[in-house]
Amino acid sequence: MAVKASILVASAIATLARAAQPGAASPIAAPMRDLVWGKLNFLHTTDTHGWHGDIYKKHKADGQGVDLLLVDTGDRVEGNGLYDASNPKGKYYYDIYREQNVDIICTGNHELYHASTADGEHLRTVPNFQEQYVASNLDYIDPKTGLQIPMAQRYRKFQTKNQKLTIVAMGFLFDFTVNANNTVVQPVRETIKEAWFQDAIRENPDVFVIIGHVGVKMPEFKEIFTAIRKQNWFTPILFFGGHVHVRDATAYDLKSFAIASGRYFETIGWMSVDGDLKKTGNKKDDAPSTEIAGLSFHRRYIDNNLLGLYYHTGLNESTFHTDHGRNVSQMIAQARKDLDLDYTFGCAPKDLWMTRAPYPSEDSIYTWLEKEVLPAVAVNEDRKDKPRLVIMNTGAIRFDIFKGKFTRDTTYIISPFLSVLHYIPDVPYTVASKVIDLLNNAGKIMEEAQAMEGDNALMDARFMGIPEQFAITEDIIHERPLPSFVGQDVEGQKPLLSGDGPSKKEPVLIEGYTTRDDIGDDGDDAVHSAINFYVVPNCIQAEVGFPRSEKEDEKKPEKVDLVFFDFIQPWVMVALKISGGDYTNDDVKSYVDGTFTELMAGWIKKNWPADC
Ligand SMILES: *[C@@H]1O[C@H](CO)[C@@H](O)[C@H](O)[C@H]1NC(C)=O
Ligand SMILES: *[C@@H]1O[C@H](CO)[C@@H](O)[C@H](O)[C@H]1NC(C)=O
Ligand SMILES: *[C@@H]1O[C@H](CO)[C@@H](O)[C@H](O)[C@H]1NC(C)=O
Repeated sequence: MAVKASILVASAIATLARAAQPGAASPIAAPMRDLVWGKLNFLHTTDTHGWHGDIYKKHKADGQGVDLLLVDTGDRVEGNGLYDASNPKGKYYYDIYREQNVDIICTGNHELYHASTADGEHLRTVPNFQEQYVASNLDYIDPKTGLQIPMAQRYRKFQTKNQKLTIVAMGFLFDFTVNANNTVVQPVRETIKEAWFQDAIRENPDVFVIIGHVGVKMPEFKEIFTAIRKQNWFTPILFFGGHVHVRDATAYDLKSFAIASGRYFETIGWMSVDGDLKKTGNKKDDAPSTEIAGLSFHRRYIDNNLLGLYYHTGLNESTFHTDHGRNVSQMIAQARKDLDLDYTFGCAPKDLWMTRAPYPSEDSIYTWLEKEVLPAVAVNEDRKDKPRLVIMNTGAIRFDIFKGKFTRDTTYIISPFLSVLHYIPDVPYTVASKVIDLLNNAGKIMEEAQAMEGDNALMDARFMGIPEQFAITEDIIHERPLPSFVGQDVEGQKPLLSGDGPSKKEPVLIEGYTTRDDIGDDGDDAVHSAINFYVVPNCIQAEVGFPRSEKEDEKKPEKVDLVFFDFIQPWVMVALKISGGDYTNDDVKSYVDGTFTELMAGWIKKNWPADC
């Protein structure tokens, strides 16, 4: 079906998103793959983390008698100055996001880390999207009444505009455990036993649409799929996932399809389903008139840049933008100005990569932090003569640093968290020095030790690392073929995926996403050459103030201050216990004032040139 012109994105957004496009500093025309339209079509964003846009549907789909729905699967906040830089946070965000066009929307874990963020979600975004917001396994505790109430409606039943297809839509969050105490996340395996869920799966819709802040290969989606399928033998079930920040797609059976659409508004996911969607039968023995395999599904990962969007819409510079889009761009520009997001701390002398350069290496952002930033900022005036080990989780960094201006906005993009440094004084070196290896290599041992302590909320050690890698290890653990962006070498320092493939000749390709998912390797809309991907550990460690000596045995201090990011404290405490250190949370103190983000910005101001 050749329908074009259905997405419109405000210009300012594409400018923002452009900076985030890996390898594509400015949009350059690339060989393109078309969108495949079906009867029911979706545009999907996830994990936008404050990168905003105005995805806007123009109803050319209407003329063709097909339907187009927009989905967002959470983590809209944290990770960009537009949300993080205001006081209170989100002062501009809620009104900007309200302009977004969306049909089904749910919550991510980042909406729930802080009680104030959860309040904002419940009091602003949920009412702004009263009909569209679904919260199937999430409750909110009303601060006035103390009552535990659903964050939003549990599910949504509606009809599509043009074909009057009946949709039952639900919205889930993965089994998240470290949410703020004014919210309650119910494990998915419990939710599927609830009466409302059992009723919802008996609503007999034409299509189930399950959205979630859940990786498409995480067990939660499988549990939901199995529960729905038991009751509905033939109904198509479409899944929209997120959280792991990768492009991915899979099918749980012939009538189901699942897509995850990347991160940071770099990617707009496209899913379409074609065939006879009107309900003909549901139970095993009323076999439908259409063949079971009579449906076809397509997915496309759209690079969010203007040239690509002009291409897919058949529009151009002068016809693409809308008044509404211009208004939203104006709101964003004004907010950026009010927040002084372009204030420059310093000029990055070169690119520093999270996973595009090996760790350790001089182009690794983690080596830069370990060798330069942490030793300089992890200083407690009263204890500055004490040698220390400073442990940081790699997941505390969210993005690469590009050569050039490092602005206020950049600080939130690189490190949106409110992480602070904690420490335990005078830990025997023999005990403290074992912690880093346990954090990086002994996830299983750590879980067992924790279980022996009677702590049921098992802490997956991978949560300390970067979410992009979670997807890989998930597949390694479950012995599945590695997804999209990865090759096979997990142990060593060879890139998991290398840009130096055999087909490097023509056409000259720009580096970017080269996704391989369960469906194939033709998902990306733009044909790119591959970007290197190197695995990084869960945590890195800087040795600071160690004795200088020629003799090996005099280089190691007897005792050290063990300094670490507050986020990883639960894991550090377990690792200390395993290493023979008898410490409790009462032994933990604050090491230095200020968040890590502020300390890093201060270091940059002092050490990088002011002008580019
Ligand atoms: C959450 O924790 C805070 C701080 O410990 C406490 O003041 C508040 O009452 C708690 N709220 C709920 C709903 O339990
Ligand atoms: C954009 O498209 C319109 C309509 O097709 C055409 O008239 C115009 O010349 C184009 N503008 C540019 C800048 O290509
Ligand atoms: C754009 O903003 C102007 C001024 O606030 C307003 O009058 C107009 O209705 C808006 N247009 C759209 C399409 O939102």
